[in-house]
Amino acid sequence: MVRQAEEKRLYGAICAAPAVVLMPWGLHKGRKITCHPSFIGDLPTFRAVESNVQIDAGLERSTEVNRVEWPFDHKPQVLIPIANGSEEMEIIMLVDILRRANINVVLASVNESTNIVGSQRIKIVADKCILDASDSKYDLIIIPGGPAGAERLHRCTTLKKLLKEQRQASRMYGGICYSPLILQKQGLLQDKTVTAHPSIVNQLTCQVIDRSKVVIDGNLITGKGLGTVMDFSLAIVRKFFGHGRAKGVANGMVFDYPKS
Ligand SMILES: *[C@@H]1O[C@H](CO)[C@@H](O)[C@H](O)[C@H]1NC(C)=O
Ligand SMILES: *[C@@H]1O[C@H](CO)[C@@H](O)[C@H](O)[C@H]1NC(C)=O
Repeated sequence: MVRQAEEKRLYGAICAAPAVVLMPWGLHKGRKITCHPSFIGDLPTFRAVESNVQIDAGLERSTEVNRVEWPFDHKPQVLIPIANGSEEMEIIMLVDILRRANINVVLASVNESTNIVGSQRIKIVADKCILDASDSKYDLIIIPGGPAGAERLHRCTTLKKLLKEQRQASRMYGGICYSPLILQKQGLLQDKTVTAHPSIVNQLTCQVIDRSKVVIDGNLITGKGLGTVMDFSLAIVRKFFGHGRAKGVANGMVFDYPKS
């Protein structure tokens, strides 16, 4: 890192690291820096800048129609099926945020191997194979995006059966990015209102609210894509536990979230 700085190449740090790593190494000198709010007090004040790179695309955060409560009298159980070619950052952010909110999440591979290679070649190890996960009941099943991954998920008969039971039992299900198309192919979007990735919207026959990052229609939740997955995940936290928990989780991640 020191050589990187001395030779005037680019370097950077995020979250706690500007205060915990760059500063002790003297790599902050003569620079303006920012960091996680819990460490900003450690920075020399005249150098600290409170800013972020949050860009708001002008979309609505979340729209809810046919409102129902998502009932639970236990710790919520969520199943996220994944396959090779799934959008890894959607998976990671969803699991991260839901687990921070104290939700039980099972990541299940739809293949006999638990080793998954995501759409950008990041390796992920699933908790289980879908056959070992299919005996349990889930409050919510979420299908991640990534066209190749979503198509593999679509071909999994065990998952298809779980999703069908989920709808019949009025339990929650949803998808993000490309996967609303998969839900449609499985007959799970009839009479529903959704949002989805712009590239597939014209293939959807149900009602689409394009201006919304997240749409909740009764027991169904859909999200637009990778850039909206934090809002999508926080909308799930909010449905299960209310605004306070979602706001608390958002604060810890330094994610811009409304006060009420
Ligand atoms: C995903 O692809 C890798 C590399 O081709 C392979 O080793 C692995 O078994 C595949 N995983 C699944 C679950 O299909
Ligand atoms: C699992 O993945 C491998 C490698 O991608 C593939 O050859 C095999 O057919 C898959 N098995 C199932 C049950 O999907």
